[in-house]
Amino acid sequence: MRVVVAGGHGKIALLLERLLAERGDQAVGLIRNPAHAADVRETGAEAVVCDLEAASADAVAVLLSGADAVVFAAGAGPGSGAPRKDSVDRGAAALMAGAAERAGIRRFVQISTMGAGRPPQSGADEVWAAYITAKTAAEADLRSRDLDWTIVRPGGLTDAPATGRIRLAAPPVPRGTVPRADVAAVIAALLDVPGTRHKTLELTSGDSPVAAAVRGIS
Ligand SMILES: NC(=O)c1ccc[n+]([C@@H]2O[C@H](COP(=O)([O-])OP(=O)(O)OC[C@H]3O[C@@H](n4cnc5c(N)ncnc54)[C@H](OP(=O)(O)O)[C@@H]3O)[C@@H](O)[C@H]2O)c1
Repeated sequence: MRVVVAGGHGKIALLLERLLAERGDQAVGLIRNPAHAADVRETGAEAVVCDLEAASADAVAVLLSGADAVVFAAGAGPGSGAPRKDSVDRGAAALMAGAAERAGIRRFVQISTMGAGRPPQSGADEVWAAYITAKTAAEADLRSRDLDWTIVRPGGLTDAPATGRIRLAAPPVPRGTVPRADVAAVIAALLDVPGTRHKTLELTSGDSPVAAAVRGIS
């Protein structure tokens, strides 16, 4: 399977690319900073430079040619302001989904966040509100497309080692945290289970082995 990962130098993305390479799949990490290419290649993935706030859908569609699936793992990240929540967390996600449609790549897994899907709480910090608004809009955009999409909303991300044990279910899942390594394992498993298409799933640490939890969804 050839899997294009948008935001290919992100923390989850690098873990996912390594998992995909280890099981014999070909990952392609889209990065905006050429200096990140070596880290992506070190996982066993290909690195392709593509700034998702500057590229056109046609140009991205060309990069997706021959892929079997797309994972949106980019994000404006901590320290960014409201405009980049919109240009990356919404805009780049919509760009990738549109490019996937143009390229005829049906399988699309999007990393969203718990808290998306409803308006930000009144009185929320302005940047947090922009982030939740952007993720909610990206989800709505993806649901409107003729793609085999799956939306994953992790809880608070940690850099703890993988536990292999998760809680994955349709909303609402009680708030919690989850290691990025477990999120990567869930995404790798979702790519193999097309029966999870058209589902929005919330994800925290839990008791279920990843493979069983993903099989249980479809
Ligand atoms: N933090 C949390 O607790 C939490 C909870 C739930 C969900 N999430 C979501 O989970 C996702 C992944 O998290 P993570 O920690 O793995 O993210 P991360 O390490 O911050 O990685 C995000 C990646 O997106 C890339 N990116 C930003 N703008 C780009 C652009 N214009 N073109 C191409 N790539 C671009 C960044 O590249 P640069 O290094 O070049 O900026 C970075 O490599 C994000 O969407 C985040 O919102 C986070």
